[in-house]
Amino acid sequence: MRIALRLSVVIVLLLLSCKHEGKAKKIEEPQRGLVAESAMVVSARVEASQIGIAILKKGGNAFDAMMATEMALAVTYPYAGNLGGGGFLVYRLTDGTKGALDYREKAPLASNRDMFLDENGNVIKGKSTVGSLAVGVPGTIAGIFKAQERFGVLDVKTILQPVIDLANKGYVVTGQQANRFKNYDSIFRVVNKKEIYFNKNIKKGDRINNSPLAETLSRIAENGRDEFYKGETANKLVEFLQSHGSIITLEDLSKYEAKWRDPITFQYDNLTITSMSPPSSGGICLNQIMTMVEPFDLGDFGHNSLKSIQVMVEAEKRAYADRSFYLGDPDFVEIPSETLLSEVYLENRMKDFSFNRSTPADSISHGEIMGYESEETTHYSIVDQFGNAIAVTTTLNGGYGSKLYADKLGFFLNNEMDDFSSKPGEPNYYGLIGAEANSIAPEKRMLSSMTPTIVEKDGEFYMSLGTPGGSTIITSVFQTILNVHEFGLTMQEAVNAPRFHNQWLPDEIRMEPNGFAEKLINQLESLGYKINQTRSPVIGKVDGILILEDGRLEGGADRRGDDTAVGF
Ligand code: GLY
Repeated sequence: MRIALRLSVVIVLLLLSCKHEGKAKKIEEPQRGLVAESAMVVSARVEASQIGIAILKKGGNAFDAMMATEMALAVTYPYAGNLGGGGFLVYRLTDGTKGALDYREKAPLASNRDMFLDENGNVIKGKSTVGSLAVGVPGTIAGIFKAQERFGVLDVKTILQPVIDLANKGYVVTGQQANRFKNYDSIFRVVNKKEIYFNKNIKKGDRINNSPLAETLSRIAENGRDEFYKGETANKLVEFLQSHGSIITLEDLSKYEAKWRDPITFQYDNLTITSMSPPSSGGICLNQIMTMVEPFDLGDFGHNSLKSIQVMVEAEKRAYADRSFYLGDPDFVEIPSETLLSEVYLENRMKDFSFNRSTPADSISHGEIMGYESEETTHYSIVDQFGNAIAVTTTLNGGYGSKLYADKLGFFLNNEMDDFSSKPGEPNYYGLIGAEANSIAPEKRMLSSMTPTIVEKDGEFYMSLGTPGGSTIITSVFQTILNVHEFGLTMQEAVNAPRFHNQWLPDEIRMEPNGFAEKLINQLESLGYKINQTRSPVIGKVDGILILEDGRLEGGADRRGDDTAVGF
């Protein structure tokens, strides 16, 4: 690490934190997150991280801990943790084998390309975002069982019992959580046509439980994966959904399968980066962006410096332009991955980049624009005592998904249908355009930005990371890797550092408010960049684990949420 650079980064981070605390701090040691000897779980809730660690302590491995952590998030973090959604897993086994699992939701059999359009062909506001038609066929239970069956060592009952106990005994509501229950209360009432269990009366510090969810999990522990897709839970779920006008049937549930996928793997300096392949755009975009910035000496330019930001956002713009046009479910559309990821192609994409001015978005092909994605998702990383590492990002899409709450089952349903392009080729009601590659078709998976990522350094495991944040997921993962590798930050500092984002269109750099100096913003504006500091109060909530030189693990749990690292 370059000492001067490190010092300037630390000064910026400290000034930012002093702003909140109102007191000066001495600039000394790197600010590390939790450091542990052999194993760690970092997730959006302390209870979920603790349960994951408890499973590891029982002799389980990362894949057993995955099942427990993911279900504990469904209990304690209903905002994004789920049984009614889907996700992606990227793994690296202790022998270096890498792979990926896709448990993304699917469009129902009765869905069709124009299902969110009115008779004039216009997008009907809200139809793909709230209520029963927004719901895709959930993949989470299929995903955690498929991963655990293949790689796990404990039996499912042992794994799920602590989660069932947690759902019965309850957990303490945090301030952020209480605010969310309050803010979403009215829309919950409208969608569910009644007050639901999660409502504005829940206060910070209250202990709440979820016995319907405990019962659902008990049946799943007893009967296995098919309980959710073919059993009593499936029947109850379909009955509930159809009573709210859903087109999802028992056949949809019984046909759902999670799929092993080849992940995207590429080289950046001495790092080997492995991330999620389509139907997530994460791996391809991350690969494109990192290959485009690699020829530039970002380390010398400096962390969040004018030149670094310029190079990074220009690469982001070009990758997101390609994303919008070419990417979709690989089972349905041909993705020209080889070309999109070739060095010649990417070198050519950056040919018109200049430090003297912003490249206008409308001069960058491809001329179709990405669909709207909301920003509520959750990520967790696990490294076990055997050396297996996993990165998992899971989502309901929007906060509490479709807001439809299956009260007898104890969980929310996703609104992932909104991740399709409702009307390919024309602006939707957010003013954005989607592409044909991501149009709706029965059983198709909607395009995602989730980017669970594993990084190796000189062939050894180095980092596991990921984040929520919709379209900002890819750029948050990108910046966090560079924060560690190019700018020498610790895992915790890398996660805490202020973030920026450019997604081609709208033609602007989104920046976290109060994270960047006014002078820098003025310089960017004078070069033609439009800066938006109001769109995203926070960009991403990155959770990650880094291996230190002495072999110990450092957790980075994002200060922006209630995220917590637990290890031993
Ligand atoms: N729903 C957010 C994503 O999949 O990217």
